[in-house]
Parts: sequence; C-alpha cells; structure tokens
Amino acid sequence: MSEEYPGVGRVLVVVPTYNEAENVRLITGRVRVATPQVDVLVADDNSPDGTGRVADELAAADPQIHVLHRPGKEGLGAAYVAGFAWARERGYDAVVEMDADGSHAPEQLPRLLDALADADVVLGSRWVRGGSVVNWPLHRLILSRGGNLYTRLMLGVPLHDATGGYRAYRMPVLDKIDISSVASQGYCFQVDLAWRAWRAGFRVVEVPITFKEREIGASKMSSSIVGEALWRVAVWGMKARRESLTRRLSGSRRPGPDEPGR
Ligand code: GDD
Ligand code: MN
Repeated sequence: MSEEYPGVGRVLVVVPTYNEAENVRLITGRVRVATPQVDVLVADDNSPDGTGRVADELAAADPQIHVLHRPGKEGLGAAYVAGFAWARERGYDAVVEMDADGSHAPEQLPRLLDALADADVVLGSRWVRGGSVVNWPLHRLILSRGGNLYTRLMLGVPLHDATGGYRAYRMPVLDKIDISSVASQGYCFQVDLAWRAWRAGFRVVEVPITFKEREIGASKMSSSIVGEALWRVAVWGMKARRESLTRRLSGSRRPGPDEPGR
C-alpha cells in the first residue's frame, strides 16, 4: 500500500508495456527505489515476449507493484485510459505516466511530484531550459520538435512539450476532462490530454527532464501513429476555431424580432 506523497497524496505510476520483458524489471525496480511511497501499475497488452509474466512475478514479490493484463495490442492511449480507471477505482489522488524503456528516469520523478504540489498537471519537458534528449537520431529530434510546433500552431496551446510521455495528473483533472471519451490510440493521446487539461483551465506546469533513448528493445513509433496524430490534431484545431467563431458571431449578433433586447 502506498504512502502519501507530501502535498500530493497517494500516487500510482502507470507503465504501459508492449514487449518490454527485460525493461519492466529494471523500470519497476528503479521506481520503487527512487520513490518508495508510490505504487506501480504495469499495463501490458498481452506482449508476445512474456512481459506480462515477468510483471506478475514482480507483483507477487512486492505488494506495491500491480499488473493490468489487457487482451491485445490496442495502443498506448487505450492502455493509459484503462490504467487511470484502475487508479480511480482504488482511490488514488494522482497518476503518473512513464515509459517502460528507461527513457523517463524514475530518479527525476520527485521533481514532477514536487511540482504537482502546486499544479494540476505536470509535464516532464524536453524542450524547456534544463531539459534535454540523449541519443536520439536526427529524425526523432525533428519529429518531436516538428510535432510540438504543429501542435502549437494548430491548437494554440502554450506548451513546449505537449507530445512527451512523462507526466503527472491530479485525479480530479482526469474526471473533469472525461478520459472515457478519449479516442486517441497512439502517441497523440499525449497531445489530447494536454490540450483537454489546458482548455479546461487547469494549471499545467512544465518541468525539465532528460529523455534518454532506450538501450533494450525497440520503439513502437510508426507511420500510422504519426498519421493519426496529424489528422486528429488538425480536426481538434478546426473544431476549436469553429466553436470560437460561432461564439463570437452569436455574441455580436443583433437579436431577432421575438427576442428581448430589440
Ligand atoms: N500496453 C501498451 N500497448 N504499451 C505500449 C503500446 C501499446 O500498444 N505501444 C507502446 N507502448 C509502450 C512501450 O512499451 C513503452 O513502455 C511506452 O509505451 C513508449 O513506447 P516507445 O515505443 O518506447 O515510445 P517512443 O520512445 O518511440 O516515444 C516516446 O516519445 C513520444 C514522443 O515524444 C514516448 O515517450 C511517447 O509517449 C511520446 O509520445
Ligand atoms: Mn521509448
């Protein structure tokens, strides 16, 4: 059972896994040492490499490690939505997103949680002062910078790293933004949630992180994940523009013959 993290409460770190059999042991071990107060939930999509079985062993040996077995690969977004619902049912006060592959250092988790004491959402950011990326090939750097630029232009969100996957949310944020209605499957899930939280008026804070490219296993990034992000972000942006236009027009419109104020 987790203890309270000062200023935050009970915290669950959700780690989605797909073929991370070696990594899952390392990452859960590092989280438990770096932040002994918090619990860990591995959300595995029935990985063919047996990640789920390794996670079960870890959970059997440590009451603060849990496993959510999902029937098949449905994307990072769906795994997080299921993990967050699991946390809500058990009364956690906050949840953390963390990749299994070591790219997000558990040793930097206190930085995120300390910031959460004064915020509703904390984004671990590669693209603010003090943030960095280690060992990424040029095409990934371009994809990340380009993706964030695209997001800012399309949505107008004043965030530097809305695509990153190391972050913390207070539970009421997830209730308010209605995660059960999230359709994003791939990595645009990250933009989706950042955008919903910011639009809902929550305090979204960025803290610098050092993102290190994985040493074991392979990325699940694919052209279909990039494609989904491109079209979804464009649709959200167009909807938001249409809504604000409608609001402006109806606000300045002269009242009709039967309406008061004429
Ligand atoms: N359960 C589940 N199901 N887990 C998945 C799935 C899935 O379909 N796809 C990916 N994951 C898990 C991986 O096992 C890993 O723990 C984590 O999600 C991130 O996947 P990677 O494939 O390692 O992502 P990346 O390194 O290419 O991308 C990183 O940067 C992106 C862009 O900034 C991540 O941090 C992303 O979250 C981020 O959006
Ligand atoms: Mn990775």
